[in-house]
Formats: sequence, structure tokens, C-alpha cells
Amino acid sequence: MTALLDVSGVSVTFDGFRAMNNLSIAIHEPELRAVVGPNGAGKTTFMDIVTRKTRPDEGRVRWGERSIDLLKLSESQIARAGIGRKFQKPTVFEEQGVRANPAMALRNRRGPLSVLLWSPTDRDRTRIHEVTAEIGLSARPEHRAGDLSHGQKQWLEIGMLLAQDPRLLLVD
Ligand SMILES: Nc1ncnc2c1ncn2[C@@H]1O[C@H](COP(=O)(O)OP(=O)(O)O)[C@@H](O)[C@H]1O
Ligand SMILES: [Mg+2]
Repeated sequence: MTALLDVSGVSVTFDGFRAMNNLSIAIHEPELRAVVGPNGAGKTTFMDIVTRKTRPDEGRVRWGERSIDLLKLSESQIARAGIGRKFQKPTVFEEQGVRANPAMALRNRRGPLSVLLWSPTDRDRTRIHEVTAEIGLSARPEHRAGDLSHGQKQWLEIGMLLAQDPRLLLVD
């Protein structure tokens, strides 16, 4: 069985400092994997490589049944391929409401023109409701995201990713 994500022999150097040395990890579907290590071990860097925030010096990163080379895709193409990324520090639209956040995530999936013309379909609305309930924030849908607690913001960011139905969710 092909792995959903197949990282092999990946090394990264920052200004001569070797932050990652020959990392290989394969994630199958459905599978839950935990990557543990002290601060500075390279956990965030691993996710940065998969989502193209960092370029490795060596190694391969392959995705899906067709073994697509993720190192050749842009950040947005990687997201559209089905990889959702939760950042270590919560990243939500602070000025927007609790429900508006997953709505924006749904909208961002579209191409540049349809983003401008987008309005939620019934299906989108249902999905936004489901996700808001799933992350435990349905009580106050209009609540400003910036006023949520740190933990609730973390959940809201997860909700934004779930709204996009990723095949792989990287949770930093
Ligand atoms: N953009 C960068 N420039 C220079 N050094 C970096 C950069 N990103 C990460 N590092 C270094 O790489 C190592 C791994 O960091 P990181 O992936 O953030 O670890 P973790 O998430 O496991 O705490 C650390 O020593 C960190 O300082
Ligand atoms: Mg980190």
C-alpha cells in the first residue's frame, strides 16, 4: 500500500546549522501519528517542509496514490491537494466572528475569481454549522475570534482546516 505522505532522506541546513538530518517518515491512511521531541528537535521544520515553507537540501516528499512530488508544488497547491496545517501559534482571523472563520476557509479553497464572487451554498452553511459544533463553539457564533481564549482559538483554527476536508491534518 502506498503511503499517503512519504518523506524520505530529508535534511535541512539553516546558515550552516543542520536542523534536520536524514528524516524519513511515512504516514498511511487512516493513521494517527505523533511526532515528539524537545524544543528545537525539528517538529515545526518537518511540517514546514511538507507545506513548502522551508526547502530541504536533500530528500524527497511524496503525496498520495500517484506519488506526487510535493517539493514541486506551491503552498496553495499543497493545501488544495488535501494537506491542512495547524500552526503552533493559533492563526485565525481575529476581527471576524467564530462562524465567519470556517466560512472564510471554505471560501479560500476556490480560485481567485470565484473567491470574489463566493457566497455560501446550503451545503457550505451546513458544513460550517457542523464544524462549529464539532469544535465546541456553537454557543456564540458571532463572537469575535480575537476575544476567544488561547485554547478556543486553537480549536477554531482546527475548525477552519476541518471545513476544508483535508486528507491529512498536520497539527503543530
Ligand atoms: N527559519 C529558520 N532559520 C534558522 N533556524 C531555524 C529556522 N527554523 C528552525 N530553525 C532551527 O531549527 C531547529 C528546529 O526547530 P523547530 O523545527 O522549530 O523545532 P521544534 O518545532 O521541534 O521545537 C531549531 O534549532 C531552530 O532554531
Ligand atoms: Mg515547533
